Amino acid sequence: TPRYLADYQVSAFTISTIDLTFELDDTATKVTSVMSVKRQGSHKQALVLDGEHLTLLSVKMDECLLSADDYFLSDTALEIPTQADEFLLTIVTEINPQDNTALEGLFKSGDAFCTQCEAEGFRRITYYLDRPDVMAVFTTKVVAAKDKYPYLLSNGNKIATGELGDGKHFVQWHDPFPKPSYLFALVAGDFDLLQDSYVTSEGREVALEIFVDKGNLSKAEHAMASLKHAMAWDEETFSLAYDLDIYMIVAVDFFNMGAMENKGLNVFNSKYVLADTESATDIDYFNIEAVIAHEYFHNWTGNRVTCRDWFQLSLKEGLTVFRDQEFSGDMNSKTVARIQNVRVLRSQQFAEDAGPMAHPIRPEKVMEMNNFYTLTVYEKGAEVIRMIHTLLGGEGFAKGMALYFERFDGMAVTCDDFVNAMADASGTDLSQFKRWYSQSGTPHLKVREAFDPETSQYQLTISQQNQAGETFAAEDCLHIPVKIELIDADSGIGQGQLLELTGPEQTWTFAHYQAKPVVALLGDFSAPVKVDFEQTDLALEVLMLAARDGFCRWDAGQKLLCRYLHKLVAEPDYSLPESLITIFSKILQADSDPAFTAEQLTLPAFGEVADQIHQVDPVALVNAQKKLKHFLAAGLQQQLTACYHNCRQKTGLSQQQAIGSRALKNICLSYLAVLPGAESLVTDQFGNAANMTDTLAALNAAAFNNLAGFDSQMSAFESKWHDTPLVMDKWFTIGASLNSADIFERLEALLKHPLFSIKNPNRARSLIGAFISANPKYFHCQTGRGYRFLAEQIKRLNEINPQVASRLITPLIQYKEYDLTRQELMLEQLKALRALPQLSRDLLEKLDAALN
Ligand code: ARG
Ligand code: ZN
Repeated sequence: TPRYLADYQVSAFTISTIDLTFELDDTATKVTSVMSVKRQGSHKQALVLDGEHLTLLSVKMDECLLSADDYFLSDTALEIPTQADEFLLTIVTEINPQDNTALEGLFKSGDAFCTQCEAEGFRRITYYLDRPDVMAVFTTKVVAAKDKYPYLLSNGNKIATGELGDGKHFVQWHDPFPKPSYLFALVAGDFDLLQDSYVTSEGREVALEIFVDKGNLSKAEHAMASLKHAMAWDEETFSLAYDLDIYMIVAVDFFNMGAMENKGLNVFNSKYVLADTESATDIDYFNIEAVIAHEYFHNWTGNRVTCRDWFQLSLKEGLTVFRDQEFSGDMNSKTVARIQNVRVLRSQQFAEDAGPMAHPIRPEKVMEMNNFYTLTVYEKGAEVIRMIHTLLGGEGFAKGMALYFERFDGMAVTCDDFVNAMADASGTDLSQFKRWYSQSGTPHLKVREAFDPETSQYQLTISQQNQAGETFAAEDCLHIPVKIELIDADSGIGQGQLLELTGPEQTWTFAHYQAKPVVALLGDFSAPVKVDFEQTDLALEVLMLAARDGFCRWDAGQKLLCRYLHKLVAEPDYSLPESLITIFSKILQADSDPAFTAEQLTLPAFGEVADQIHQVDPVALVNAQKKLKHFLAAGLQQQLTACYHNCRQKTGLSQQQAIGSRALKNICLSYLAVLPGAESLVTDQFGNAANMTDTLAALNAAAFNNLAGFDSQMSAFESKWHDTPLVMDKWFTIGASLNSADIFERLEALLKHPLFSIKNPNRARSLIGAFISANPKYFHCQTGRGYRFLAEQIKRLNEINPQVASRLITPLIQYKEYDLTRQELMLEQLKALRALPQLSRDLLEKLDAALN
């Protein structure tokens, strides 16, 4: 049964303190919880605690032990009728971490115990008011065998330690900041520990500790440096300093998501902690810095001020993603970082917003909360915050943040509370803007222009429409910031300005133009919208070279490429114009940042183009991409070869320059590899690569073009890396993306590989997830075999790890994107899955959305 935002009610009771004791055991961990409970308001309702997958051992109210007649126990709740207004409740439960393959609550990752409580995992540890607006002070005592579990960690500060009999020891922690249960964490294990410290702007000395599997100490350096950069950035940008004496990060191999911001004790997927140049790519380095910062920033936007209820998730996630994007932009190339954000939106979020699970950034109806940690809540949520930043300016936004913390520090609040603080602090009316929080779907901007040489006036008309192409009714119109730049056709000089579109259609007039200017629309991607605007190839080429806004320079090129991909999908024999070669030749010659040039040369992703074509034939799209790539590679062969070797020979570069140079070199390689005779180039790069970025670029080129050396390169890679799990994930990913007709036999073999385990989410995603996203040609093959393969794996995962299953089903539920043949084939698999006997709530919600 779904829950609705409109039904929110304050909790009937609250809990102000909780004192926990964990006696850790693989299959029978005993959890003792002592809570001070208080009735809120005047009512006589029973106390109803959430609890799932628990064995209840005892319940005590104050000094009185309850018997089974004193309460009602169900699969999801413990209900205690009581007249008392204030009492101490002691509950003892037993749980089985070993068999917890869902990785929610307390579970084992390898030899270590760890927890994941967001959103509703705490109820798998003990009976509790498991909702974010119930905030308690936690004290946690952890008891375990000292030899196997020398480190016993929880939130806050360490307040006691001691030895017990039987080789056991304990550590007790106290977190002075009241918090919701989703921020609780516990870790126990044996680790290597990287230690450092940081003195905050307020003069607090903070111990920084990163716990990693034994032998991985040197791979934690980059994460530590990133953490210190993030701490300094938040002090400088928003005057936000850390508030405890210790900040701990633990890296584990079994984790459903990227990382978790538990107060003072972040738990991370090891993928977002561990790196050295030999084993990690430049993208891995970038992502580690971003995720470390994201979790750190949550300490203020999430922990000090949290969500009133889970419908408000974007309050903390949209805002924190915006903050980590800004940080990444400051630490790296701002434009390139922005381009990456836009690629994710266009290739994935737009499809989500058009599919059966579409929801506003503040959802109104939820069955399984884990299904709403989405691209919409996170990425579109961040775009909504960015639009506020654009409308208010940096200073106005900073004032809004300050007022937000002044009003709400220590509280659980709503998205409206945040927007009101922004509006009040800056004196801006954001009432219409708030519609972004309740409207789903990607808005379209329809753009027309007119130029009158008589009056020297240029006119730009923009209307806003919904997904179906209907102009918004006035009461649905969004407040949309549209950054534009008008480029004088003669001088090439641009004029920037911010337009605010608030009505169904508006016209702006610009005077004093001798000739029609070229308009660069949506500078820096100022709003998460699609633009319908037929600019000529010539205008796009002007923008590619002359727009001041880096995003617009890149975007014009992408638009040009998309245009020809569309033509090729409609007409496979379409012959591409030489003008494409001319313009990209200019791009290769331009004196731009190499990292940026690499982005300009990167073809629009499959998902991005698929989203633009009604009921696309996916294989026709793959063929179109191939043909365009081949055309550009052949036409630019000499230049690409020269650029490739030039990048390869460069020495004495800074870290940033080297990353950019590698990106440019490897995009050149990816073009050259489609041409006949490319084996030697790829083999040479594979053999001589000095880092993982170059190794993977070579392997990817070999896989994409099914080159002769592929199998021997893969076995060389495997023998070198079989003991390094994160690198073996990359190996499985490449194996699954091979462009070869025997891919299904290969997938079966990979599933049986001794290092494959479907219980490890990273490993499952590296094979199954990679196949569905990096191998569209075979995933969408006419026989339906790709869909059957996916459905088979989802069926297995349904019982093992519903969260992972629910993520992997995405392309199937978005079946309406594809042609009718694929729709039929996909529907068949969806129906078969719907008929499974023990369907998880996660899958049930999505299947019902897709099938109804
Ligand atoms: N709050 C975490 C983060 O954004 C992610 C938690 C995801 N939880 C989930 N159930 N999927 O960093
Ligand atoms: Zn987050």
